[in-house]
Amino acid sequence: MLNEVESKGGIFTAAPVHYGFRGICIIIVQWWTFLAKCNLIHLYNRFIMKYAVITGATRGIGKAIGEKLLAEGFSLAVCARTKKDLVALEKKWKVAYPAATIIVYRADVGNKDEVTGFGDAVLSKFPRVDILVNNAGVYMQGLFEGEREERFETVMRINLYSAYYLTRQLLPVMKKKKSGHIFNMCSVASLKAYPGGGIYGISKYALLGFSENLREELRPHLIKVTSLCLGATDTDTWEGSGIPAERMMAADDVADTVWSVYNLSKGANADTIIMRPVKGDL
Ligand SMILES: NC(=O)c1ccc[n+]([C@@H]2O[C@H](COP(=O)([O-])OP(=O)(O)OC[C@H]3O[C@@H](n4cnc5c(N)ncnc54)[C@H](OP(=O)(O)O)[C@@H]3O)[C@@H](O)[C@H]2O)c1
Repeated sequence: MLNEVESKGGIFTAAPVHYGFRGICIIIVQWWTFLAKCNLIHLYNRFIMKYAVITGATRGIGKAIGEKLLAEGFSLAVCARTKKDLVALEKKWKVAYPAATIIVYRADVGNKDEVTGFGDAVLSKFPRVDILVNNAGVYMQGLFEGEREERFETVMRINLYSAYYLTRQLLPVMKKKKSGHIFNMCSVASLKAYPGGGIYGISKYALLGFSENLREELRPHLIKVTSLCLGATDTDTWEGSGIPAERMMAADDVADTVWSVYNLSKGANADTIIMRPVKGDL
């Protein structure tokens, strides 16, 4: 009986001192199987696995989309500002989805260096990008008069510039594959001004403008762009508002919509999706 020793790749038989030629053959076959397995995993990751990138995916809508895509077999890269949330999710997802490559990256997408740092991390680990969701956003209402200008600049950097920088950075890999789907998390506030909508409204109008122009530019490259104009969705954004969850959409409704739109046939796209609570806007 050969001794069995544990090795990183599995169980291998020890040196076939007593078994001569037969033992050597067993070792060769085992190594060959091991290498073939590694190669298959590499080929699987390169050609079959799908890759998604989502900004702001530790909570709310981004997280719901991320978990939907992981459940559908995607690898996933996400960023957010709070490190402990990222670490906790990475731990949970790695156990629940062992076949997926998971990247969690701490970044404030309102900072150009940080959002492009996230893009670099994605490009260094993912062979391609099948889905990009420009989701991270902040909600700040208020009147223009009298407000600090920095507030305006901060909201524009987070809600608009982040999508511009990250999309530009990831576009070359999508173009190379002549495929990919970009979802931009717009709002019903991208379509209509609300009293007191302020900077948030401006940023979401601008994001819709970015999304619509991007689509025209990417048509020849067969990359799809979908603008999601969402009404009230039950997330932390509404915490403390006193509005019951049933009055809003669920984040999973948005995730299911992203999945349905992504699965349209190759020749079709949903350019703009408007989703509202059944009882209307808040
Ligand atoms: N909920 C709604 O009713 C509603 C309606 C229409 C549109 N939307 C849009 O949908 C998107 C998601 O909203 P949500 O309600 O799901 O938000 P949420 O529950 O507050 O979650 C926001 C996520 O984005 C991250 N994030 C926020 N600011 C960030 C930044 N500067 N850099 C990196 N990550 C950041 C947060 O993590 P950290 O805080 O740790 O960074 C968190 O993971 C937003 O663009 C929002 O405008 C929401």
